[in-house]
Amino acid sequence: MAQHLIDLRVFADGAGLARAAAEECARRAAEAVRLRARVSIALSGGSTPRRLFTLLADPREPFRDRIDWRAVHLFWGDERHVPPDHPESNFRMVRETLLEAVEISEENVHRIHGEEPDAARAAALYEDELRAFFTGEPRFDLVLLGLGADAHTASLFPGTAVVRERERWVAAPWVETLGSFRITLTPALLNRAEALIFLVQGEEKAAALRAVLEGENDPDRWPAQVIRPENGELVWMVDGAAAGGLTK
Ligand code: 6PG
Repeated sequence: MAQHLIDLRVFADGAGLARAAAEECARRAAEAVRLRARVSIALSGGSTPRRLFTLLADPREPFRDRIDWRAVHLFWGDERHVPPDHPESNFRMVRETLLEAVEISEENVHRIHGEEPDAARAAALYEDELRAFFTGEPRFDLVLLGLGADAHTASLFPGTAVVRERERWVAAPWVETLGSFRITLTPALLNRAEALIFLVQGEEKAAALRAVLEGENDPDRWPAQVIRPENGELVWMVDGAAAGGLTK
């Protein structure tokens, strides 16, 4: 990756990572609401953010009550091509870990309709919803991202054309390695965000993290490299195990 300062924060373990991420989310959400009376957040899927969402939802923790959930608009960075109650649904994961515990209005929960038989139609519908929401500059206040062991992020997988998408905001790539479609926000929209935070946990991610941060610039091979905010912050929050392969 081009030699510029990377905001990389390393935490002892997943618990420390999740707690620091909850602090970041609460702080940035409160700031956005203070400045713009609403906050738009695109959530990552997979397993890593579960702990963060559980912390944000927990009334005993110092996060939930700092966020004005009535002003929060939740979006998804990507979704599996499954119904919302499917075990693999990213929406379901967030519903179970967060939505059921916070006072957010249904119309502020902008889920990707993974149940649409035609994945391309699901992507087009979501793009319409985003274009209706972002009347001005399409700029998320915060985007949460994960990193796969193959260096994919959202559903931008190695060797897929969507990694280089510059026009559409949402796409439905066929992912050969998964044998299924995914619906994902594209770099064209992600890179316009105010802030993007990667949450990366576990030894199995060490090689991918090293390749993305220290390897040659090759986003087709390491798609997370395509995340370069045009005019925003990029923060890597990782645990020690994931950072284990870094040399610099
Ligand atoms: C998804 C995600 C994906 C995820 C990575 C990491 O739908 O799977 O959005 O990009 O963030 O695959 O997943 P884990 O956190 O489960 O390792």
